[in-house]
Amino acid sequence: MEFELDCVFLLSSDARGINFDRILGNLGDILSRGAPDGKGAKIDEFHVDGNRLKIKIKSTRYVRPHEAVFRLRKFLSRELGKHRIGIRRIFAPSYEIKFILEKEPKKSISVPFAHLKFDNKECHIYLENLDEEFLRRNYVDRIIKLINEKIERQYYEGKEEYWELIWQSKPRRHFFDKDPTREMVRRNWIMHRGRGQWIFGPIPTKIMRTMEEIVIDELIKPLNFNEVIIPKAVTWDVWKRSGHAKNLYGEIYYLCPPMKRDPEFWEDVIDMYRITGKVPTDMIKERIREPIGGMTYAQCPPLWPYFQGRTIADESLPIRVFDRSGTSMRYESGGIHGIERVDEFHRIEMVWIGYPEQVRKTHGEIIERYRIIFNKILELEWRMARVTPWFMAQEGIINVEDKEKVIGTIDFEAYLPYRGSREESEWLEFQNASNNGDKYTRGFNVKSQTGEQLHSGCTGVGLERWLAVFLAQKGFDMDNWPKEFLRRLGNLPEGIRFL
Ligand code: SER
Ligand code: ZN
Repeated sequence: MEFELDCVFLLSSDARGINFDRILGNLGDILSRGAPDGKGAKIDEFHVDGNRLKIKIKSTRYVRPHEAVFRLRKFLSRELGKHRIGIRRIFAPSYEIKFILEKEPKKSISVPFAHLKFDNKECHIYLENLDEEFLRRNYVDRIIKLINEKIERQYYEGKEEYWELIWQSKPRRHFFDKDPTREMVRRNWIMHRGRGQWIFGPIPTKIMRTMEEIVIDELIKPLNFNEVIIPKAVTWDVWKRSGHAKNLYGEIYYLCPPMKRDPEFWEDVIDMYRITGKVPTDMIKERIREPIGGMTYAQCPPLWPYFQGRTIADESLPIRVFDRSGTSMRYESGGIHGIERVDEFHRIEMVWIGYPEQVRKTHGEIIERYRIIFNKILELEWRMARVTPWFMAQEGIINVEDKEKVIGTIDFEAYLPYRGSREESEWLEFQNASNNGDKYTRGFNVKSQTGEQLHSGCTGVGLERWLAVFLAQKGFDMDNWPKEFLRRLGNLPEGIRFL
């Protein structure tokens, strides 16, 4: 790596009389501290122009110039102080960086702030007119990291996502070969409300609530999960810590509070609606603030501020909680899809936190409970696959496998007969269960009593998807529904008849 920074120290007064040769000759180890022998930053040239001290700093990867410049500032403040000259501010007219990439880019890329040039595996970064904040906050390191990540992504693009089958049920006989969403619409069980949102009438709601009760009776109660209520409006601070802020922007339903609550501020919007009968969204846009976050996406992240920066007592571990207090929302870019792909969906989310062994054990117990539910109660044809951990996928990393096979996500997938053959059609992921390792406990700085790193896990049960899978395999004739499920369901309510 080679760095070359042209920076300017803006001084409080003219410094032409000062002997900088002498001052800068006495730097000692200031620019090489921490670097191996003979390495470190060096002042390549300097020049005084009135109250501007211009310095060119060069270095390799040890003591990079954007670090060196602040060491220099401290040193110069002291030296110039003797002459009653202060340093007002620092800026950098230009900064050039040359480094070797991990992989050769397949096509050119761009990043903010920088002008980039590629020469095989060599990358040149040109930066201009940088302020102090840019240098101080290590933007340069993040730019280098981002460049490598973007190139890495070029290699993943088009590659299959990581997927490894770990268990598969025996084939079952199915009783339906059509899309259950269409059939439910035909029967007026459900109604589409634009934007991937459905109204569920009494019959499908009863089925979904029965499924929810099954999860409560067969999993949540025996494994001692306690109910909590997690907020559904998620602010940036949460997504910065969960990693979602790295990638999610195209799928968020944004949250924008009004600039003011004051009725006068809204008067012309109200008047306009009263006269035209149209909601003047363009005028609203000018009266709302920038987004403070978005609607729940992954359900568990907004629980974490509860634990953030705290030490959990051993007697409370493992923590086992669940939430079913509201919907999650994902922008699916329009179009009507079945109930298995919606913008607003209902999910039960369980979260557990503990020492690594407790977390591993809980994960295993949960999988066993699901196995009983799907095999003995719902009698589904399904399989489990190890996939890229959900939080990584949601951060935009698509192909990562944990070699230790401890941390990671297991997807539960079910065969949908209407989509084609078992072998060739795409099965539906109807829920997942993950051991998230230290991702969240670290991200939210959660500590244990002993100092040992805590881990966590989570699992989300998608009720729309359970319903879609069940009806796709069992159909609408209740005679074909599993006995154990019918016993828990009781009678279905009368549907609503429209004339
Ligand atoms: N939080 C996990 C996810 O979003 C499980 O629900 O996939
Ligand atoms: Zn989760």
